[in-house]
Amino acid sequence: MTSLFDAIPLAPRDPILGVTEAFNADSRADKVNLGVGVYYDDQGRIPVLDSVRQAESDLAAKGLPRGYQPIDGLPAYVRAVQELVFGAGAPALLEGRIVTAQALGGTGALRLAAEFLRRFHAQATVWISNPSWENHRAIFESAGFTVEAYPYYNRDTRGLDFPAMRATLAGLPAGSIVVLHVCCHNPTGADPDTAQWAEIIETVRDRGLVPILDLAYQGFASGLEADAMPVRRFVEAGVPAFVANSFSKNFSLYGERVGALSIVAPHADAATRALSQLKRVVRANYSNPPTHGAQVIAAVLTSPVLRARWEAELAAMRVRIKDMREALVAAVEAAGSNAEFRFVLRQNGMFSYSGLSPEDVARLRDDHGIYAVDSGRICVAALNSSNVARVGAAVAARLNA
Ligand code: LMR
Repeated sequence: MTSLFDAIPLAPRDPILGVTEAFNADSRADKVNLGVGVYYDDQGRIPVLDSVRQAESDLAAKGLPRGYQPIDGLPAYVRAVQELVFGAGAPALLEGRIVTAQALGGTGALRLAAEFLRRFHAQATVWISNPSWENHRAIFESAGFTVEAYPYYNRDTRGLDFPAMRATLAGLPAGSIVVLHVCCHNPTGADPDTAQWAEIIETVRDRGLVPILDLAYQGFASGLEADAMPVRRFVEAGVPAFVANSFSKNFSLYGERVGALSIVAPHADAATRALSQLKRVVRANYSNPPTHGAQVIAAVLTSPVLRARWEAELAAMRVRIKDMREALVAAVEAAGSNAEFRFVLRQNGMFSYSGLSPEDVARLRDDHGIYAVDSGRICVAALNSSNVARVGAAVAARLNA
């Protein structure tokens, strides 16, 4: 037994959640965590949305029993997810071509997709964007896939390198699995525009690629409908797809781990068979998903009053993030930065790919108690009117160094 444990090496900290661990261990009172993708309000708190609070108190009053859920999750939740992501009345839904399993957040949904594909499409290579969310590679590698990266970001223009991305996708072997961020690309904040999506969808269809659409930030770029547009265009184009969505951010329900994996199949019979296999993956992992978060989300999405309240709360989060982008740029400029920083205003979602080097990130942490991901990604949604001037000054000092 001693030799078993002697052979276990110490793993490095997680590139994102490890930043939170280091932040939590820091005793400085004015520390700021711009590492993990979490939305904080202007008082620096993770909000409990009013719509959620109301749904929770209604549920508590009902005192519902906590029996096991179906393996694929709460039926009312599954229906609500399908309508939110694919659009109520979408022909593919009516045709029974879309099946959905509740999942443990967006990460859990991706993991289900990875294990499912490993069982039925094991020979394929998985392609993620360069750069991508750090956990994409880990999820698919730990399911046994080889993971490669397609070009995505142009460091000179600080935007999408669309020609390189498209050329690489167009050259992939048929059947390759391609992970695409639907909106608010993590970490760069650079998203394809509508015309570029049309070309991506055409390329994926013509090459016979297998898209996994990661929708973790629906409502954080332009709005619920606009942000889901690429998913809907894939479905309309008749492309079978896997869609992982998450409610961690747009419901501020990070710890409840509420997400879902949907599979868009070519016909209803294939969808039925796919769901039967997806349930086996769930059963062998965690049996069936937890109740609370799914009940809350189903209640909010299906009540006209709570739904309207949630949409207003989501819009307010989106607007505050945009305000913080403006405030950060103003603070960096006010601090006398020599470097152009206005590209931050063009990025979508919670993150800014700031251009800071790993050394800059270390100095921000050590000298100022400001934590970011080593890649230079900062979470703009963690800025507020009390910390943005200080963060802007510290960033400007590094840009000028
Ligand atoms: C992030 O990218 O910071 C979030 O999606 C949280 C996570 O799980 O990494």
